[in-house]
Amino acid sequence: DKGGYKHFMAKEIAEQPGVINTVLQNYLSDTGEITLPGDGIDFSDVDRITMVACGTAYLACFTAKYWFEQIARLPVEVDVASEFRYREPPIPAKTLAVFVSQSGETADTLAALRYCDGKADMIASVVNVPESSIARESDLALSIHAGVEVGVASTKAFTCQLTVLFLLVLKAARDRGKLTDADLEKHIADLRTLPGIINTALAQSGKMQATAQKLSHASDVLFLGRGQMYPLAHEGALKLKEISYIHAEAYASGELKHGPIALVDESVPVIVMAPRDALFDKTVSNMQEVMARKGKVILISDAQGIAEASDGVWSSIEMPSVAEALTPILYALPAQLLAYHTAVAKGTDVDQPRNLAKSVTVE
Ligand code: M6R
Repeated sequence: DKGGYKHFMAKEIAEQPGVINTVLQNYLSDTGEITLPGDGIDFSDVDRITMVACGTAYLACFTAKYWFEQIARLPVEVDVASEFRYREPPIPAKTLAVFVSQSGETADTLAALRYCDGKADMIASVVNVPESSIARESDLALSIHAGVEVGVASTKAFTCQLTVLFLLVLKAARDRGKLTDADLEKHIADLRTLPGIINTALAQSGKMQATAQKLSHASDVLFLGRGQMYPLAHEGALKLKEISYIHAEAYASGELKHGPIALVDESVPVIVMAPRDALFDKTVSNMQEVMARKGKVILISDAQGIAEASDGVWSSIEMPSVAEALTPILYALPAQLLAYHTAVAKGTDVDQPRNLAKSVTVE
């Protein structure tokens, strides 16, 4: 049932404030304690984390790497499951292995989990289907409570994965003595405002539709991001190519000069994901290099960022302000909505894109 929406993907995008709220209800007590199921995880025994997944779930891991390293000061390696499983990497002592999968049945992710069995100190999974193989074969399965996701393009599962992973990062930071009571309370208060802020972002959907109309004529699109926005740039590019069939690539903003800028001319839209954070000025200078080569910049930022840097851009998309640590969750929305409206403008099959399956259970 599409609940009155034209596509499951539109319905699932709109459900995000509600399902993120459900995650918070399931993992936070009234007094703001982070509650994990079973015996939970004691991060004071963990020296490093290996995170493995495919596709969008991999990009949730890649985002979480930034959080674990910055907030909990824990080193994290991330890998796509199809590479990890055959590379057979050594797993040092005190490694926590984390597998993220919406379906819990992705063949490569399951094989990677089985490789870690008996090698990692603990195997945790972040899944949407609690009865799935990946959940059953983990020491601890963390449910993302997203509800059934029908659209092949993953949307609400991604933001719920990120929310669960962010809570795990806070738990890790606490266990390792890296977060004061006051900082923890602040992060939790920020998280509780997130569903409302996402609702405000959803209200920008109409404006994104206008930008997507222009984007639908492009044959190549670049996404740029720096820091926490780098994984999101990848998610934007993946969503766009998946459902609109437009060739899209993501680069770290700082890599532009090392090759990709050669692609830029007046036919190439460049989507810059840049909230007004500590790295904003650096990203803006990369964006200006793009404009100097006549690239058509679409700037996604907050009111302050747009006021400071939107001179000469092709289009800008304004996001509400949010706590800096939570920008990856919020900026998933414009990544999803731009792809969605572009696909609708092109008339592609949004919920069942060609050649793709919802769950990749064979290699
Ligand atoms: O069920 P999983 O989370 O393990 O699936 C992983 C990928 O196949 C999945 O995220 C895929 O990349 C999506 N179609 C992306 O929108």
